[in-house]
Amino acid sequence: MPSKLEKFADFSSFPNCFSFAFEQIQQGFPGKGKWHSDVFKNDNPIVLELGCGRGEYTVGLAEHNPVKNFIGVDIKGNRIWTGAKHAIDTGLHNVAFLRTRIDFIEHGFNEGEVSEIWITFPDPQPQKPRARKRLTHPLFLNRYKKILKPGGLIHLKTDNTGFYEYTLEVIEELKLPLLFATNDLYANCPPDREELTRIKTYYENLFTAKGEKIKYCCFQLGN
Ligand SMILES: C[S@@+](CC[C@H](N)C(=O)[O-])C[C@H]1O[C@@H](n2cnc3c(N)ncnc32)[C@H](O)[C@@H]1O
Repeated sequence: MPSKLEKFADFSSFPNCFSFAFEQIQQGFPGKGKWHSDVFKNDNPIVLELGCGRGEYTVGLAEHNPVKNFIGVDIKGNRIWTGAKHAIDTGLHNVAFLRTRIDFIEHGFNEGEVSEIWITFPDPQPQKPRARKRLTHPLFLNRYKKILKPGGLIHLKTDNTGFYEYTLEVIEELKLPLLFATNDLYANCPPDREELTRIKTYYENLFTAKGEKIKYCCFQLGN
């Protein structure tokens, strides 16, 4: 396994990896609005996984859905490295990774450039003063709204009861359309949605091994 430094060096040479830092916000991310034309070279829908870690979900979804494009987003380049390397080694062309803070996500994509968003096992940020850091806080939902197609789905998978309930409260408070929710996905997975349980992320494996129930909900941002 390469060292962290070697992974950083690889990251900047990998053709499927991009990064975007706070300092670049003024000048703008050059890939904004060009993911279809310059990266994937097709018009297939773009699906984001926010906080993708090692990218198991991004890669797993891409392997099963060749007519969609998948972008894993995380701030940790050494984690992203694992998924990016796997995609390169297996010739998976519908996968890319973006290293950035999700807080800046609207600077990485044009309005309507994204069709769907997955949030997988986000840091729960349980302390009240850190609520604004939760990836389903209204501040983040507003950022997603700037890049997501109207009617685009947002999926959340989490082991954390507090985070799950908080998200349902936000959905109710903002009167967002909630399409599906369960506090025990493996007991209540809809028969036509088996992809929800087929792919397990690194953290999902850790939590299921501890006997935690996996919670899932799917919602839209409304008009
Ligand atoms: C608990 S891990 C889950 C990783 C992966 N989704 C999984 O299930 O194995 C949360 C991930 O979100 C990333 N993350 C948390 N907040 C972030 C933010 N504001 N911007 C970018 N990445 C963030 C962390 O770096 C970490 O890799």
